[in-house]
This record gives sequence, structure tokens and C-alpha cells, in this order.
Amino acid sequence: MNKKLQIGLIGAGGIVQGAHLNPGWLAVPDCEVVAVCDVNPIAAQKLADKFQIPHVFNDYKDLVKMKGLDAVDICTPNKLHTPMVLAALKAGKHVMCEKPLATTVKEVLQMQKAAQAAKKILMTAQHCRFGEHSQAIKAWVDTGALGEVYHARVNATRRNHLPTSPGFINPELSGGGPCLDIGVHALDTAMWLMGFPRPVRVSGRALTNFAKGHEIPGAWGEWDRKMYGVEDFASGYVHFDNGATMALEASWLQHQEKEDWNATLLGKKASVTWPTGKFYTAINRSLIDGVIQPKPGVKPAHTEEILAFADAIRNDKPSPVPVEQTLSVIAILEGIMTSSAVNKEVSIPKYA
Ligand SMILES: NC(=O)c1ccc[n+]([C@@H]2O[C@H](COP(=O)([O-])OP(=O)(O)OC[C@H]3O[C@@H](n4cnc5c(N)ncnc54)[C@H](O)[C@@H]3O)[C@@H](O)[C@H]2O)c1
Repeated sequence: MNKKLQIGLIGAGGIVQGAHLNPGWLAVPDCEVVAVCDVNPIAAQKLADKFQIPHVFNDYKDLVKMKGLDAVDICTPNKLHTPMVLAALKAGKHVMCEKPLATTVKEVLQMQKAAQAAKKILMTAQHCRFGEHSQAIKAWVDTGALGEVYHARVNATRRNHLPTSPGFINPELSGGGPCLDIGVHALDTAMWLMGFPRPVRVSGRALTNFAKGHEIPGAWGEWDRKMYGVEDFASGYVHFDNGATMALEASWLQHQEKEDWNATLLGKKASVTWPTGKFYTAINRSLIDGVIQPKPGVKPAHTEEILAFADAIRNDKPSPVPVEQTLSVIAILEGIMTSSAVNKEVSIPKYA
């Protein structure tokens, strides 16, 4: 494949403008964004004009059929991912899709089957894995430095940063609140650092404590309280097949000093916290504290994520974020919501 990879974007909103396009795709050599689609014609045209994107669509079904297109990058509200991913794979395109890949396990399984049938790459855009801190911590953990990991503490909690657009707070579009939106980042990173043990059971609690009221001001502006239909807090407790456990917390609104965004892995030899890289251990009755330095030369996480996707396409490599791993992540997030609804622990089946 010598020609430039031809890329189509679906969605011309916040994440495309803030990360996927610039620097994103524009920083990746031998790739060309040749098409953009948004249901909002003004948004699509504006992006096309600004970045000289030659083809503009308002229906994703037209974009995925475009001749010569190699891959599609999907950046639309969560609930729209599944039909778009399926249509793109069916049209023979490689797909990178924003997190959460889907809002249910059933949909992820459909996508997995479709990717296998199409023999195309399907990658979830979990950019947190690709940052300089994540890469360094993963390399260190993979040396066995932690010993057996017996528990993980995973947090994606904010004091008052609630995304206000309907794509996040209207359940018809988002499929869920902070658990799916930001819990997915910290959870995916923790699972990846742990080497993806298989989740077997989970209990959870999802609450809407503050978002319907007016007590807490939104740092990103006001939101429609009537439309608001998702949780603003969720917590979960997960058991894995290797005996390890995990406590997860995700929120957009809660009374705390500041954002708490991290994962701590507790091992029998040492512990480490992402993303700071701080680790703690003890040798010969001496307590040892240390910091893993970020990996040098790593570009911004979204750029590295896109570089990895393009490299996998060009060099026939497996998906840098395989759908099997996303399946475990979504199974946990869905399990938390189900457990909260039925008020008891739920089992997670073995999918592969
Ligand atoms: N990785 C990250 O850190 C990160 C950050 C923000 C958002 N996201 C994810 O990216 C996705 C989009 O989020 P966003 O912040 O860009 O949202 P956004 O609301 O800013 O943009 C979404 C865009 O999709 C368009 N759209 C809606 N329906 C469409 C359709 N049927 N066809 C084509 N376009 C359609 C909207 O008009 C809008 O321009 C979400 O899944 C979100 O979870 C990821």
C-alpha cells in the first residue's frame, strides 16, 4: 500500500476539532483526511473549509460507501457508534471509533463478528493507553515489578465538570453518564496495565444525586435539567478470574477538592499509580518510594493512538486496541448498571 491512506471522519464536533484532526490525523504522515460527515451540515462544511477536506456528507451511509476510502474514524454520540461501525465494516473500511465503543455487550459482540467477517481492523479510541506516562508505566509493570496484583483502585471523578451537550446527558444519545463517559478511560487503562484478567462478577450502584438540581454550578456551563437522564455517580466492585478485585468510582459531580483521575494497582511486590507513575515497595525492611519517568519521545496521546491505527492498517498488524479487550471493559460497565438496577451482584459470562 504505497498511496496515502484515505480517511473519512464521521462527526465534526468537539473531539474531532480538539484532538482527532489537529494535531491528530494532520500530524500523521502518509494519511489524508478526504471526507467528513456530520448530520449538522454547517458543522461539516465549516470543518471541511478550515482543513481543505474535499468531500462533505451529511449521511454516514454515503461516506462509508465512498470509493478509495481506507478507513473511517467515528466521533459521534455513543448510541450512534454501533450502526456506523457496522456500516463501515460492511463497506470494507477499517474503523477507529471513539470510546465507549458501544453501550452494551450485545453491540460489541455484533461489531466483533462484523470485523472478523470483513477482515478489517476495529480499534476503540482509548487514547489514555498511548500517552508518555502510560507507556512507561506499562513497560515497568510488564517486567513483573508489581508481583501478583491483588487489587486495583480506579477513579474518574470530577467535582463539577459535567459535559453539557445532549450527546452526553440525554440517555437516548449517550446510553449512560460518567460511568461510560470517563469511567471507561480509567477502567480500560487499569485493565490494560493488569494484562486484562477476565471479569467474572460485579456489583454496582448508579445514582443521580446533583444533576437534576441547581446547587452545583457547572464548570463547563449550564445543562438542561429536564433532559438530564443519566447517573451523575457510579461505583462498582469487580472480581476477576485470577482472584484480583477492583473498586471503581466515576462521577461528574460530587463534593471533593478536585478531579481525581487515576488507577492504583496493588501488587505483592510493589504498587503503582497511573498516571503519576509513583510506586511504593519495601526491600530488606526499607520502605522505598519512586517515580517512573514518562517515556521520552512520545507524541500527544491522541496522535500516538492515530499513528498506531495507521501503522496497523499499513503493516497488517492486529488492532492496537482489540475488540476482545473492549468487550471486557463494556461488560464491567454494563454489569455495574445492571447490578444497580436489580440491587444485587451480577455474573459476567465468558465471551471467548
Ligand atoms: N477520548 C476522549 O477523551 C473523548 C473526549 C470527548 C468525547 N469523546 C467521545 O467522542 C464522541 C463524540 O463526542 P464529542 O465530544 O465530539 O461530541 P460533540 O457533541 O461535540 O460532537 C458530536 C458530533 O456528532 C454529530 N452527529 C450527531 N449525529 C450524527 C449522525 N447521525 N451522523 C453524523 N454526525 C452526527 C453532531 O452533529 C456533532 O457535531 C463520543 O462518543 C464521546 O464519548 C472522547
